Amino acid sequence: MKKIFLLAALAVLMMTGCCNEPKKDAPSALDVIMTRTSIRSFTGEAVTSEQLETILKAGMAAPSAMNAQPWRFVVLTDKDRIQEVYGGERRSEMFTSAGAVIVVCGQTTRMGRPHGQPDAPETELPLIFWYEDCSAATENILLAAHALGLGAVWISGYPNENRTAPIAEALGLPANIKILCSIPVGVPAENPEPKDKWVPENIHWEKW
Ligand SMILES: Cc1cc2nc3c(=O)[nH]c(=O)nc-3n(C[C@H](O)[C@H](O)[C@H](O)COP(=O)(O)O)c2cc1C
Repeated sequence: MKKIFLLAALAVLMMTGCCNEPKKDAPSALDVIMTRTSIRSFTGEAVTSEQLETILKAGMAAPSAMNAQPWRFVVLTDKDRIQEVYGGERRSEMFTSAGAVIVVCGQTTRMGRPHGQPDAPETELPLIFWYEDCSAATENILLAAHALGLGAVWISGYPNENRTAPIAEALGLPANIKILCSIPVGVPAENPEPKDKWVPENIHWEKW
């Protein structure tokens, strides 16, 4: 009986792959990076909650200054809701044809004591690296979407308040939560060639 259980467990392990082993036939991280392109046209098909969770996990795996992880995400999957929030945007089809929109937000302050003042009363302190951290999360999200065969594009927000204010209002964001960008994610309805951005002249070796 014990032997059968062990054999069954081994078979399951072989079928699912162990732990963090990369899946067979999965593209390498470098392939994913070098073949990603911005996708701005989608079929309208849904993005599953499993796909969204994987994409958001990748976002949260990004590096973060002092590991503060100031990223916050508002995820829209409801078509009416996407229309409500993004219907007035220029090129709104980018959003309304997507399966989901991930709004990458950053918490810009936290409560704490100023550095080196353990006895001071708690006060609101700025999280000055929020947009760098959220940018790293955004790139991870774009790459994860591409790795899953989905398309996505970084649509700018911060620091353009004119652009972000109506979205922030529609989403009901608190004052210390700012929008870095919006990312429509979906099944691609276009297949653009990745741009070749290799410019060796942009590199200065040892000194400028
Ligand atoms: C900070 C930032 C803001 C961007 N904002 C927009 C935008 O508002 N609208 C848009 O269509 N693409 C936007 N993009 C996508 C760029 O246009 C795109 O990354 C660039 O053209 C290079 O193309 P690729 O992503 O296919 O390599 C933005 C990208 C970044 C990094």
